[in-house]
Amino acid sequence: AACGDGDDSGGDGGGDGLLVGFAQVGAESAWRTANSDSVKAAADADERIAELKFVDAQQEQEKQIDAIRTFITQKVDVIVLAPVVETGWTEVLEEAEQAGIPVILADRGIEEADEDLYVTRLGSDFVAEGHSAGAWAATTFAADTDFRILELQGTTGSAPANDRKAGFFDELDTQGVAYTIVDSQTGNFTKEEGKAVMETFISTYGLEDIDLLYAHNDEMGLGAIQAIEEAGKAPGTDIQIIIVDGSKAGFQAGVDGKVNYIVECNPAFGEQLMDVIVQVADGESVEKFTPVEEGVFDASQFEAELPNRQF
Ligand code: AHR
Repeated sequence: AACGDGDDSGGDGGGDGLLVGFAQVGAESAWRTANSDSVKAAADADERIAELKFVDAQQEQEKQIDAIRTFITQKVDVIVLAPVVETGWTEVLEEAEQAGIPVILADRGIEEADEDLYVTRLGSDFVAEGHSAGAWAATTFAADTDFRILELQGTTGSAPANDRKAGFFDELDTQGVAYTIVDSQTGNFTKEEGKAVMETFISTYGLEDIDLLYAHNDEMGLGAIQAIEEAGKAPGTDIQIIIVDGSKAGFQAGVDGKVNYIVECNPAFGEQLMDVIVQVADGESVEKFTPVEEGVFDASQFEAELPNRQF
């Protein structure tokens, strides 16, 4: 199958294989790049897919909406959307529905009110990821009578930011852990913004009274590590750090003692996605949500796991 950018003139949606449009979030992280690579490679290798039209929306919802409208004009067979945020999809998804084109969500989800407007979602259980991070924090800081947390949130309004936050604090609350959220700001899932926000945290609060940084992805955690080091402190020691994703760079930071806990988010679902696309195009019934497999890693596992990381 061929893989083109979304501006190609369209196919006829029929013939020997499926024409698929994929509105991807962007290229904000190593995770995202690995995810795009996985989907493109799987589409290329799959004879059931005639063409994957790929659009990088540069983290802008408007660009994703435009891409979906273009896919409708091009009469694709299936639309795959990795929604940058959870809200604001009703109108364009109704347009897809009226055109008779099924929509599959990949990776991120959308608000419950719109759940009739897509067939199925394949991706991570972000709430579970948050619970995993919270469970480690609850154990690690169980004896801390003044447990103080900084949080670097992902893109405001995105499913992983909302759910990783909710799962984490729900777990601490359920386990009866007392804590203070010293501050919680978005770093938009990028290294640059993660570093900038951490610099502000450090100049506002210092690090002496902070126990934990919970970063919603590797990039923001890695940016924060730079800020902490530039402030003359030791990440992983002066402040403990949880990151989510599990990239090579994230695990290397773990091996170097700068990260204390890693919750995996798995981007490599390209082949599974192709199966779902074909099932949906064939009108087969599919689960509303299919979670991908993910693990968790503490300091005792970083070194052995590093060579296994794929991105
Ligand atoms: O939606 C998945 C999240 O998006 C990943 O954790 C993050 O790295 C990416 O930007």
